[in-house]
Amino acid sequence: MKAKIDAIRAEALELAASCPSLEELERVRVRFLGRKGRLTLMLRGLGGLPAGERPAAGAALNAAKREVAAAVEARRLALEGERDRRDLSREAVDVTLPGEPRAIGARHPVSMVMAAATEIFTGLGFTVEEGPEAETEYYNFDALNFPRDHPARDMQATLHIAGDALMRTHTSPVQIRVMQRRQPPLRCVMPGRVYRCDSDVSHSPVFHQVEGLLVGEGVHFGHLKGILSFFVGRMFGPGTRIRFRPSFFPFTEPSAEIDISCVICSGKGCRVCKDTGWVEILGAGMVHPAVFEAVGYDPERWTGYAFGMGVERIAMLRYRIDDIRLFYENDVRFLAQFR
Ligand code: PHE
Repeated sequence: MKAKIDAIRAEALELAASCPSLEELERVRVRFLGRKGRLTLMLRGLGGLPAGERPAAGAALNAAKREVAAAVEARRLALEGERDRRDLSREAVDVTLPGEPRAIGARHPVSMVMAAATEIFTGLGFTVEEGPEAETEYYNFDALNFPRDHPARDMQATLHIAGDALMRTHTSPVQIRVMQRRQPPLRCVMPGRVYRCDSDVSHSPVFHQVEGLLVGEGVHFGHLKGILSFFVGRMFGPGTRIRFRPSFFPFTEPSAEIDISCVICSGKGCRVCKDTGWVEILGAGMVHPAVFEAVGYDPERWTGYAFGMGVERIAMLRYRIDDIRLFYENDVRFLAQFR
């Protein structure tokens, strides 16, 4: 009996110790220690032995069971350790490797300048208004006091759609829409896209303007000069000089074009300012009484000023860009410089 137990124990220990996998090890355990395992069955069969042999055989069987169980457990720990090390090395991250760079986007310079211009005025209590890009003759011209068949309509090379419909040539029609739906006093800025039949290094068929309008009692040209001086100082820096030149727009009277001292050459004269030392950035003036009449405001009571600026022109000066078309080609080598 003793020899038989020793043989089974030795076989079990040998199998457990050399087991190549956890699954195989479980089969070995079941074969020797399971409910119908060989050692288990022998223990159950003890009753069939002569009474004198039972205690010794029982002790030997229990000892063999414990030994085999310990060997299986030891092998299980070893196999699990190997498995964990394999998993860890497969999932390992080399924290010393350089990261994958993520390209960071940048806002388009036109968007940045438009937002910056708008913010200067919202900081002064102006609201932001918008209007449609496809307009009618009425809003783009008639209500703004452009007489029918007046050559002033040709000043703005218009992209006509059909009948009365056209692409707005400036943001001034938004003035009319705002005044139609609101009563004075009011102050607002109107950023947006405008369209003209024009294309060269400084003109694009689609470009951007920021319009401004303030209506109140006792508003005069000094207020206009004050706010535009403030705007220029904020946009181009406090050293920038400003100059008003008399001009003409049908919807303002008096009208002016506003120049700033050339930011490229500080006024000494260069290619950008055509050696004059000045560059034009704005059109402005006092709202014409006929415009107030068109929207039902009493021109005897209300006065106001309006201005309109070209966003691309300001961006070109601010970032020293000499060709307007660069804004629309969307070459990342150009755009990445504005981060
Ligand atoms: N709308 C004019 C233009 O596009 C600019 C302007 C706006 C002039 C408001 C005066 C007042 O040229």
